[in-house]
Parts: sequence; C-alpha cells; structure tokens
Amino acid sequence: MSTTMADRSRRLATRIGRATGTTTRDAVGRPASHRELVRRELAAYADRIDLAGLVREHGSPLFVLDPDRVTTQLLALRRELPMARVHFATKSLPHPAVIRAVDAFGAGFEVASRGEIDLLERAGIATAHCLHTHPVKTVADLTGAYLRGIRTFVVDNPAEVAKFRGLPPDVAVLVRLSYPNSAAKSDLSSKFGVRPEDAAPLVAQCLREGLRVAGFTFHVGSQTASAAPWAHAIRRTLALMGRLEAAFDVRFDTLDLGGGFPVAYDEPVPSLADLARGIRSALDGVPDRYRILIEPGRFVSAPAMTLVTRVIGVAERADGRWAYLDQGVYGAYSNIPAEDVHALVFAASELGGAIGGERGEPGGASRADDRARVPVTLAGPTCDSVDVIARRLPLPALAEGDLLVSPMMGAYTAATATSFNGITPTPVVVVPA
Ligand SMILES: Cc1ncc(COP(=O)(O)O)c(C=O)c1O
Repeated sequence: MSTTMADRSRRLATRIGRATGTTTRDAVGRPASHRELVRRELAAYADRIDLAGLVREHGSPLFVLDPDRVTTQLLALRRELPMARVHFATKSLPHPAVIRAVDAFGAGFEVASRGEIDLLERAGIATAHCLHTHPVKTVADLTGAYLRGIRTFVVDNPAEVAKFRGLPPDVAVLVRLSYPNSAAKSDLSSKFGVRPEDAAPLVAQCLREGLRVAGFTFHVGSQTASAAPWAHAIRRTLALMGRLEAAFDVRFDTLDLGGGFPVAYDEPVPSLADLARGIRSALDGVPDRYRILIEPGRFVSAPAMTLVTRVIGVAERADGRWAYLDQGVYGAYSNIPAEDVHALVFAASELGGAIGGERGEPGGASRADDRARVPVTLAGPTCDSVDVIARRLPLPALAEGDLLVSPMMGAYTAATATSFNGITPTPVVVVPA
C-alpha cells in the first residue's frame, strides 16, 4: 500500500474516533448502548461522506461503498496479525472497487469459482498468488484456474485428489480440516473438511499421486466471536503437521487460518486486538518456515457498505404498525435469512445532519427528538410473508418517503441478493476518493 493511502486511512480512522469515541455515556451518565454508539458514528460518517448528497444523486435503495473502510480493516489485520498474509475472501463482496483497494494494499485474494477469477482478471490482478479454496470443483474449473495462473488449491476428500491427475508438478494443495464450531453464525465444518484424525490417508494419497501438499487450512466458522476456536484449531493442526512431517518425511510450508473474523451488527463483538492476542499465543513457537495465511471476508467487507432504503408504504395491522421498504430479505438484507445476522436499522431522522432532514431532503434538523418512538415492523417489498427485516423495532414514527440507514452492510448482502418478485437489485455507488 502506498504511504499516501496509509496516511489517508489513518487520518480517516482518527477523524471517526474524534467524532464518536469521546463520549461513551448517555445524557444521564449511564454507559451508552451499542446502538447509541453506532448511531453516533453513523451520524458523523453520513455527514462526512455526504450521504444525503449521494442519495439525492443516486436515489434509493442504495448501497454506498467506501474503499477507505476496506483499507482501514486491512490495516487493523496487519497491525494485530503481522505474521499473516491476507487473502481477501472475494465472495463476501465481489466488487471492482473492493478488489482495487485490496490489491492496492498489497493483500491477495481467496477465490472459489470461475466467476471470481474473471472478476480479478478484469481488474488486472495477477492470479498467481490467489488461493483457490473450493474443496469440490469440476476438472474443467480446476484446469481453467490452473491455466489462468492459480497454483494453490484445496482438497478435502479422495475423489477430489484424483481430479489433479495430469496437471503439471507446480501445483500445490492445502488439505482442508474440519473443526466444528456450533457457536459460529455459519459453521462450515459439516459441508467441508476432513477430520484431523482422518487426514493422514488423504495426505498419503496426494503424495502417491505426486501432488505437493503445502500444508493445511480450516475455517472456524463465520462471525466467530472468540479466539478459542482458532486457538484449538491452530494447536491441533500444528501437532498434526508435526506428526505427518515425521511419518511421511515431508516438509509443509503453509498454515492457513481461514476467515471467520467477526464484526459488530446488533451487538458488540470482541475487538480484533482481543481475538488476535489468542491467535498469536496459539501460534507461539510455530516453525519459521510456515507461511501463515488468513482469508477474511466479512471483517474486511462488512464495514465497507452502508445501505439506504426508503419507506414505500405504511399500514396498521393486527399486531401494530408496519412500514414497507424498497428492499428486503430477498434483496439487500439477504444476510438476515442466509446468515442470521442483523444489522442495525436507523431512521434517517435519528442521524440528524443533512440525511436526517424531512423526507431525507438536505438541510433539515434531526427529528429524532420530536418524533415519539413507536414499535414498527419493517418489511421488504416482495409479496412473500417471510420478507420481514425486523419486528416491532422502536423507531421514530415512519411515513412514506422516509429514509432508513443500516451500517455494516457490505458482507454477503449485494453478493447474495436476488431479484425475486422482479425487484431490481440495489445499485452500489462508490464514495468518491
Ligand atoms: C474458504 C473460505 N475462506 C474464507 C471465507 C470468508 O469467511 P468470513 O467472511 O467469515 O471471514 C469463506 C466464507 O465462506 C470461505 O468459505
């Protein structure tokens, strides 16, 4: 990453901190709630990036993508886990502006499909240092990825190893291990990975086939809010690597700790500093010749997008007031059903400043105090009854045309949204540099 970019990102983080970090108490001296702290930060951020102006220009619904936030997250990872090379999980937010920011920082990419390789190629990324992590792929996809420059792949079962037959010897594989984690929002260990106790025959098969085993990889589960699963997986994997090196007289060179780093949606999560402390301590004594990799998706991309939606109608139902938005769980809020994560939703009037003006028009004062909070069910625009974003959320009374804002909406949102019911996907606008 260039010095200018690093400086810019540092200045930006300082500015956010100055705007929000000083008062962590509410008006009567109690510690402010998580929602209140996020509201303050979002209000300052909306002013700084002129969110109101972006909505005026581009309309609603709107994803607002801020590449500086990608850089800020990458800086945090570099600071806390300096020994780890980052391969951004492209699937979490496959957008050219994110790809450019990750590449400019000097980080690499994790890909799992032909489409993701296409995206990187279109952005001019050299794919030689990408990881292809899908443990199950067609021979055509594998060969295509090889021809396009990828050399490191993942295997987790015997049938997959056989697919590498005939590829040149400069290919290496990481063996994916499975470590169940029922506390994660998305436990990936039942769909993929070989149990550590079953890894030896797979490694033996790779070696028989002339396939170089570079090392091991795992994913402790997405949105993992404690260092313990990483510490457990790291310790078991290091022990396994030592045993297999002795048994097969080989030397591994890579330990890939996967993704899973959490972000704060509707509740706080442990800081990256806390998680990293546990991870660093588990890595204590790791042989110098091992490259340590991480594949963060959500941690890098979630803070990078802010979602703006608009109320298209309101109704009184048997269970109270409903407000219908121009995006829902089949669209921009697809992370709700897919992952059971719940970004906070703010009425724009709660944010004050230009975005909080009457009907989202600029220049209006905050209406947060002059409107009583009433429980409202926020629904998406489709005809489906599961299309509900939040039930009985206490918000300032909403009227048709009002704007709502959700921060932390970059990961697995635009990437997983559908156009069910013919609803057009939410456009993404990039915050000008
Ligand atoms: C192989 C692999 N690596 C990394 C990630 C990114 O995970 P997260 O977004 O939890 O950091 C995923 C997500 O599914 C994955 O499958």
